Amino acid sequence: MSDRRNIVLLSVLLLLGTVLSASAYVEELDDSFMERAEPDETWLIKFYAPWCSFCKQLDPVWHQIGSELRSHGSPVQVGKADATISTGLAKEFRVNNYPAIFILKRNVKYNYVGPRTKDGIMEFADRVGGPLVRSLSSLQLFQHAMSRYDVMLVYVGTTSQLKGNYTLAAEELIIHINFFSATRDILPKGVSLTSLPAVVVFKDGTYLAYNEEHDGDLKSWIKRERFPNFFKIDSYTLYAMGESGKLVLLALVEERYLCDKSLRYKSLVEKVATEHKETYSRDFYFGFMEGSGYINGFIMGEVMVPSFIVVNLSNDGYFLPPGPVETERHLLDFLDGVLGGSVEAQGGNGLAQRFRRLVYQTKITLMPVFIEAPVLACFLVGFPICICALFCYLCCKARPTLDEDEAAALVPPVQRHKKLSDKKSD
Ligand SMILES: *[C@@H]1O[C@H](CO)[C@@H](O)[C@H](O)[C@H]1NC(C)=O
Ligand SMILES: *[C@@H]1O[C@H](CO)[C@@H](O)[C@H](O)[C@H]1NC(C)=O
Repeated sequence: MSDRRNIVLLSVLLLLGTVLSASAYVEELDDSFMERAEPDETWLIKFYAPWCSFCKQLDPVWHQIGSELRSHGSPVQVGKADATISTGLAKEFRVNNYPAIFILKRNVKYNYVGPRTKDGIMEFADRVGGPLVRSLSSLQLFQHAMSRYDVMLVYVGTTSQLKGNYTLAAEELIIHINFFSATRDILPKGVSLTSLPAVVVFKDGTYLAYNEEHDGDLKSWIKRERFPNFFKIDSYTLYAMGESGKLVLLALVEERYLCDKSLRYKSLVEKVATEHKETYSRDFYFGFMEGSGYINGFIMGEVMVPSFIVVNLSNDGYFLPPGPVETERHLLDFLDGVLGGSVEAQGGNGLAQRFRRLVYQTKITLMPVFIEAPVLACFLVGFPICICALFCYLCCKARPTLDEDEAAALVPPVQRHKKLSDKKSD
């Protein structure tokens, strides 16, 4: 009997110990934080709201991150803040969705927009928490970095104006990619550079040097080239790829077990990506995406899996192959058709599309409510519609000249905002 009591007592103590030590790694921050934080401290901060379920899911991950960063001896301290209580702090960071993740370093706020996974966030803390430009002092270090990162930027040379521009670009783009510097002699023998200083991107087992004349401004070039040529793409990454200005050819495949056809489609895209890189990599990125949920939302319909799609993230447009694609030739014809204009662009961000998106998203949001609680849903939808209808009726009676365009123009900004915040917070 007393044994059992001891065990219970011990478990309670252990549990308490775990809770206490976990909370010791993550500090709860409030509005006094900005005055309290020392300028040389680096903080990884999560803003949450009590009602946000994604935030709750992130809680255990956040504690793990806190304890791991501490045990690695990282200079990054971990905190969290309830944005509904610490409103001043949330305003300072311009938090507008939850959970919002930031690193505060030397008074600069870096927003994390990748997947909310431990690995993703740890990598971000490691990248942003360290020096803006890391020096690679030996071939071993260079090769280690190469094996670790799919894409890395290296500045080669001594101090120069280009180096200044490179560091400036790093200040903004370190949230996405690693910036290194090295001297010519530590680079592998196979790398030949026509002139120094140079900025080189290493990816896909090869490299590409920046050329100011052809490539324009350094920052835009980095934005354009910061993804691998072919890779597995998730919804966060696809959304971020909009900034590159390139089109993306995707093979859509099943989420877990790929059927033969999916495997064939995936390797077809990879083959085209590698063998026709010279021709297409200026205009296209290539990849595969598991699951069709995100693309269904994007095109507001149902895509088949497996299948091919080209998306234009600059204008939310997309292209579907006009016929079956079974061979490399078919796929190349499809790409040429997209570039040449013979394959019709669908979707886009015109007024009509935005309105359709609004309706679609409302439908998607309300559908589960209708299934779970039809009466409540009817009331929730019906009541505002009645009010709106009455309001419109009164307005029209007062001002019969409001034309269709004007009425439609009232819709998009709200919708656009909703779409963005949806994507970021899902
Ligand atoms: C650095 O950036 C400035 C301004 O964007 C540009 O005029 C200049 O040519 C750049 N220098 C080099 C060496 O890239
Ligand atoms: C993709 O969208 C951009 C921005 O609207 C547009 O300039 C470009 O022509 C589009 N590309 C294609 C192939 O339609």
